[in-house]
Amino acid sequence: MTPDQITQIQESFAKVAPISDAAAEIFYARLFEIAPEVKPYFKGDMKEQGKKLMQMITVAVKGLDNLGELVPAVQKLGERHNGYGVKAEHYDTVGEALLDTLEKGLGEAFTTETKEAWTITYTTLASVMKEAQFGKA
Ligand code: HEM
Repeated sequence: MTPDQITQIQESFAKVAPISDAAAEIFYARLFEIAPEVKPYFKGDMKEQGKKLMQMITVAVKGLDNLGELVPAVQKLGERHNGYGVKAEHYDTVGEALLDTLEKGLGEAFTTETKEAWTITYTTLASVMKEAQFGKA
């Protein structure tokens, strides 16, 4: 991840953070549109769930300069996802819903470079989580 890509992510996320409740709502609506089968996995209050998701993304975005330090926490998060019934292929679906949400929330600020930087960030997080959850592919 280049310093420029880190800036892309941090600046674009700063625009989404003030509207994080709305962003979380868009995200879950999109996720359940693409993958209705995952809806029953979510047992808790979706507002709370949305807050947790945005908090986790905030931590990840802040820690991009030193992703290595985040690995243990992300591994634990991956292990917990085993108990939520999540399958490996759902990580692609969640990634798609996340990118769609950013595109909707950011409009023209969601440039090709911003999209690329988010794709790398999400793919990195997802692969650490999947490895912790399912073992090395
Ligand atoms: C980078 C990817 C992901 C991140 C950062 C993330 C983040 C989180 C966080 C922070 C929680 C709160 C509970 C906890 O900390 O253990 C959570 C719970 C959960 N996540 Fe994820 N998640 C990701 C991927 C996924 C995927 C691919 C699915 C598949 C549908 C999923 C489904 C769930 C479910 C079902 C729960 C529990 C909901 C409940 O308690 O009712 N997550 N996730």
